[in-house]
Amino acid sequence: MWHHDILSTIGKTPLIRLNRVTSHLRATVLAKVEYFNPGNSVKDRIALKMVEDAEKKGILKPGGTIIECTSGNTGMGLALVAAVKGYRCIFTITDKQSKEKIDILKAIGAEVIICPTNVPPEDPQSYYSVARRLSQEIPNSFFPFQYDNLSNTQAHYETTGPEIWEQTEGKVTHFVAGMGTCGTICGTSRYLKHQNPKIKTIGIDTEGSLLKKYIETGEIDMSEVGPYLLEGIGEDFIPANLDVSVIDYVIKVSDKDAALMARKLARLEGLFVGWSCGAAVHGALEYARSLSANDIVVVLLPDHGSRYLAKIYNDTWMQDHNFLEQESLSTAEDVIRSKNGKNRLLYVTKKDSLTHAISLMRENSISQLPVIENGQIVGSVNESRLLNMLIDDPSLKDCSVEQAMEDPFPFVLPTTRIDVISKMITSETPAVIVQNPDHTYDIITKSDLINILIH
Ligand SMILES: Cc1ncc(COP(=O)(O)O)c(C=O)c1O
Repeated sequence: MWHHDILSTIGKTPLIRLNRVTSHLRATVLAKVEYFNPGNSVKDRIALKMVEDAEKKGILKPGGTIIECTSGNTGMGLALVAAVKGYRCIFTITDKQSKEKIDILKAIGAEVIICPTNVPPEDPQSYYSVARRLSQEIPNSFFPFQYDNLSNTQAHYETTGPEIWEQTEGKVTHFVAGMGTCGTICGTSRYLKHQNPKIKTIGIDTEGSLLKKYIETGEIDMSEVGPYLLEGIGEDFIPANLDVSVIDYVIKVSDKDAALMARKLARLEGLFVGWSCGAAVHGALEYARSLSANDIVVVLLPDHGSRYLAKIYNDTWMQDHNFLEQESLSTAEDVIRSKNGKNRLLYVTKKDSLTHAISLMRENSISQLPVIENGQIVGSVNESRLLNMLIDDPSLKDCSVEQAMEDPFPFVLPTTRIDVISKMITSETPAVIVQNPDHTYDIITKSDLINILIH
């Protein structure tokens, strides 16, 4: 089976379970990963829909020019559509957007005009006004204006919503998405609520945006508007695609929390995603704390991390913005301290019975123990291995730990950084031992690590 052209590969993006960043939650959290689209973002969906609807309405004719104001991703989608259909592209973009985004647009043949970020939308220099003016000056041009173009919402009603419903077999209970034009959240939410009105939709907003207050109160409060660094979400005016009736709750996420979560998704889930994806997951995990094991949360991740290499994935840039202190400086010592005294090292000796080891783990709801002999760590036992042994041969229950123990957990120092420790802890090695200068030991498990990462 082959595709007629790159455009027919848009959509049908995967739904991927988040595991390590969610191990403290009961609910299941699934990520709808939109960087699998050919333009590496969710905006490919609306780009195709807005162009096809304009062609149907005769607004866009062959050889025409597409002019749009974009944070980069919609431009990328439109540039792909234009490349295949033979249209010229002119994009206005604000100077806060990453260099990577601007270079990619030029690479696909688009003309790019950079406009100042911190001017009001109605200012003649704003990237909205420049695009509108050009579309009035250039004949046979089409100005999609994604913010008010309802094909934006419709694209998600026709594709993103149905995909999520089908991929979760209708079991989705909560949908979480960042809000810029609001097309993604409103189109998807409207479709899902038409299937099951009990589904709850959570919008992710930024500091310096007026969307949360407007959705909660109906008030357009310009005092809410201020500078922020996050790209793609947050607004300083109300887009026509915003339908407050399909949004149940809004969470604001800071530039820093979004950046730190995006980095965690790369390091703990292998998902190399964009900045606003970090915001969406940070908000989703916050909301999911109160949910039950029956809940299935779908969080939409709009784009790819490669567009933010010079920013959130650059340690110097992160430190320059004071976004990095927590993550990079945390050490084994910090993890032990964060356990607030709940770190009395439990252990067994070689002579203890397997039954004793298992009940000690059960009583303390832990799933591994070090084996200590004359003050020295000589081995380890873990619950799943012991249980498998006992299932194979129940008579082993009175055997000594010595007969079932495995190698000691790896040793680290109190000063070992947590990003180093996080690479050592795996499904085979569920813990590490901290060797203290006073010859005592502490233990750090997977859940200890995640606790310090999320708090
Ligand atoms: C990176 C990124 N995240 C989130 C969004 C928000 O999506 P929507 O405009 O559908 O609300 C955008 C929109 O431009 C974006 O570029």
